[in-house]
Amino acid sequence: MTYEIRATTPEEFPATIGPIFHYFGGPPSVDFADSVGLLVPHDRIHAAFDDGAVVGSASVFPFETSIPGGFVRAAGVTLVGVLPTHRRRGILRSLMRAQLDDVHERGEPIAYLWASEDALYSRYGYGVASFTGNIELSRDRASFFRDFEPEGRLRVVDPEEAIEPFSEIQRRAAAQHPGMFVRTPDWWRSRRLADPEWRREGGGEMVRILLELDGRPSGYALYRLHFSAERGIPKGFTSVIEAVGDSPTATRELWRFLLSIDWMERVRAGLLPLDHELFLLLQEPRRLTFNYRDGLWVRLVDVETALNARTYKPGEAIFFELDDEFCPWNSGIWEVGPAGASRSGREPELRLDASALGSVFLGGFTFGQLARAGRIEELVDGPWIAPTRCPAPIAIRGAPRSSDGLGGFGVIPLVAGRPCGTDCIAPNPPRSSRGRGLG
Ligand SMILES: CC(C)(COP(=O)(O)OP(=O)(O)OC[C@H]1O[C@@H](n2cnc3c(N)ncnc32)[C@H](O)[C@@H]1OP(=O)(O)O)[C@@H](O)C(=O)NCCC(=O)NCCS
Repeated sequence: MTYEIRATTPEEFPATIGPIFHYFGGPPSVDFADSVGLLVPHDRIHAAFDDGAVVGSASVFPFETSIPGGFVRAAGVTLVGVLPTHRRRGILRSLMRAQLDDVHERGEPIAYLWASEDALYSRYGYGVASFTGNIELSRDRASFFRDFEPEGRLRVVDPEEAIEPFSEIQRRAAAQHPGMFVRTPDWWRSRRLADPEWRREGGGEMVRILLELDGRPSGYALYRLHFSAERGIPKGFTSVIEAVGDSPTATRELWRFLLSIDWMERVRAGLLPLDHELFLLLQEPRRLTFNYRDGLWVRLVDVETALNARTYKPGEAIFFELDDEFCPWNSGIWEVGPAGASRSGREPELRLDASALGSVFLGGFTFGQLARAGRIEELVDGPWIAPTRCPAPIAIRGAPRSSDGLGGFGVIPLVAGRPCGTDCIAPNPPRSSRGRGLG
């Protein structure tokens, strides 16, 4: 049986996002559909039709994301679902085909998602590009390793006042941390700063804090308090939605504040990167009870454009053979080095697939790590495996940052109030990875 697969029209919305909502127990609310309608253009929703009825769909919202040395256009894959009546008939594959062809035609060099299932997307050339995790920290074990003199001024701001400084801070932070997506004002308004009841999960209102250092907006935090007490003893927690500083001092001052709120027994936060500042700031980092999972998944749709959009450290070029089954226009031998990327006729040193290239692109993983896991094939005895034999890395390092908003299945944790964790966090420090790679 074949199904019609095509981009949708405005008149077909919101039925076009119905399949994923089936799994959340019912159609999207009007508010939610409005917010999707604002952020996801209708012609970026691809749907599968069976006799005129939508049985599967996959969407994209276009955005800009940070990569080492700059920003690049990207396709944020989201709202992917196939009705259980039609599963395992190749509909997801057909949707991914149509979507990636469309992304390619539009000239977006990379696609990017958060996966509901980590087994799903590597077959389409996505590679896990970062790990991320949640913390739950008891406030009485949350001291910094030493006393830092408090700095800056904190104040509560309302959503409209927040948009401008928060977006500037977020962009500055993104420039330092590959893998953060840059939010539009619509995104800030309808997603990040919106505070509908269904997102509160039993907590209070969202609080928006602006940090100024030397009079300059330098960081912000979004959180809500979940108050509870037993026999007068606090049992509640602070739920940190996001805390972003544009410098180490700003990040430290934000966390000093978040860890100090009275009446809260614990602090919870999600989507922290593996190398978050807190690990080394705290005297007792194990008390973070960090619980990790895969984070961003990246797919290079136009390898030449993507590789040339980022910067590299001085050093030797690397030659690899890329086998890109799903987007064969990328296959071939590539030379990547300080001068950028180009096709090459030279003997390759490594052989890899698109998923492996997606994993190294932002710098979260190295070729050496992938080789040690058997994810890439060494064709010569290269120096990238053993750190002791590793030459100066050819690339800028930086940890893909767990951007908010791109949560849950596909991307948008728009699925608010539903199981996929609507509140996300983003801070992200540089990562010190070793070994040779793009990273
Ligand atoms: C996951 C889902 C989209 C798959 O759709 P589908 O049309 O059944 O998928 P296809 O028939 O095209 O299968 C595609 C491939 O993925 C595999 N696959 C499908 N669902 C899978 C799952 N849940 N876990 C692991 N692999 C899965 C299939 O075996 C197939 O593999 P192959 O290419 O090696 O043959 C669908 O079952 C669904 O909507 N599930 C609930 C919502 C969800 O998880 N959405 C994904 C959001 S990130």
